[in-house]
Amino acid sequence: MALIEDLDALEAKAKDLIASANSAEKLEAARIALLGKKGEVTALMHMMGKVAPEERPVLGKRANELRRMVETMLQRSSENIKREAMRSLMATEAVDVTLPGARPTIGHQHLINQIKEEMEDVFCGIGYTVEAGPEVETSWYNFTALNAPMDHPSRSARDTFYVVDNAPGSVAHPEEHAHGESDVLLRTQTSGTQIHIMEHQKPPIYAIVPGTVYRPDTADACHLPQFNQVEGIVVDEGITFGDLKGTLDYFAKCMFGADRKTRYRPHFFPFTEPSCELDVSCHVCGGKGCSFCKHSGWIEILGCGMIDPNVLVNCGLDPERYTGFAFGIGVERVAALRYDLPDLRTLMTGDMRFLEQF
Ligand code: DAH
Repeated sequence: MALIEDLDALEAKAKDLIASANSAEKLEAARIALLGKKGEVTALMHMMGKVAPEERPVLGKRANELRRMVETMLQRSSENIKREAMRSLMATEAVDVTLPGARPTIGHQHLINQIKEEMEDVFCGIGYTVEAGPEVETSWYNFTALNAPMDHPSRSARDTFYVVDNAPGSVAHPEEHAHGESDVLLRTQTSGTQIHIMEHQKPPIYAIVPGTVYRPDTADACHLPQFNQVEGIVVDEGITFGDLKGTLDYFAKCMFGADRKTRYRPHFFPFTEPSCELDVSCHVCGGKGCSFCKHSGWIEILGCGMIDPNVLVNCGLDPERYTGFAFGIGVERVAALRYDLPDLRTLMTGDMRFLEQF
């Protein structure tokens, strides 16, 4: 009879154990405690061998029922736990496929780069190469080799960002040492790349060089301390001012429209002789005069001229054999003229409401 009571007690204990196992791990622990090799139900089953033969059928049946019941309870509980786990997973990781997706913002090229590439296209189309040059430059390349006198005002620290003043041994060019020059600066113009190109390439040279330049100007509607230029250089035998005009007229019409007139106004640059600025007829008034063109009918777009023989000599080229022309275009200026931008600073702020328009 004692065994019957043990069976009853074990049944109650098994029910409690299984009911309180609320995770797969706890349920597995309960299974081992009851049905494992050393489990309590297993132990009871083993005791059946020692039971008196007349009691064996009753007790044996009862013990078998208990074992089957424990197995069924474990099975059900395991299914419940799995179902619960799935339910909570579905609740937390549910995806509403009907919701609109989060669209990634797809950017596009900045206006300045668009204009730069457009200019590259125009000049590549007439056989020019596109070159690059250093933004950190020496005074030899930025000024002296370009025929700028030692007392030229643009050399002053008010107009040029100097990185290293007169640092002995900081630059390698023998000409600079010959001139006692070793100033390192942020280039104020891309014109120094003319010198680099002529040093490394023999004529014929037909090249443009887009690049960033720096000047210690406070940013305002018309000035930026950092802006972009596209330099152009042509050196060959028999190049004349007619070639300069034909090339730049073609460029102006490509960039601003076939109906635009051009005008070459005398100017001075140390590295070209003669030098001039190119004006394009105002697109707002068609040349009649308006507030946009300051009532002149013309808008200035670039500086240009025939390369000064001194510059050719500085680069080891014979000015009796070679002639050439050069030009420098302000990229921000072209952008401002194209789109009638009232303030150049908008190009630097990264304000998407402005930039997305182009
Ligand atoms: N470097 C000049 C500037 O920054 C622009 C320029 C003028 C470039 C005449 C040239 C040129 O190559 O021939 O204002």
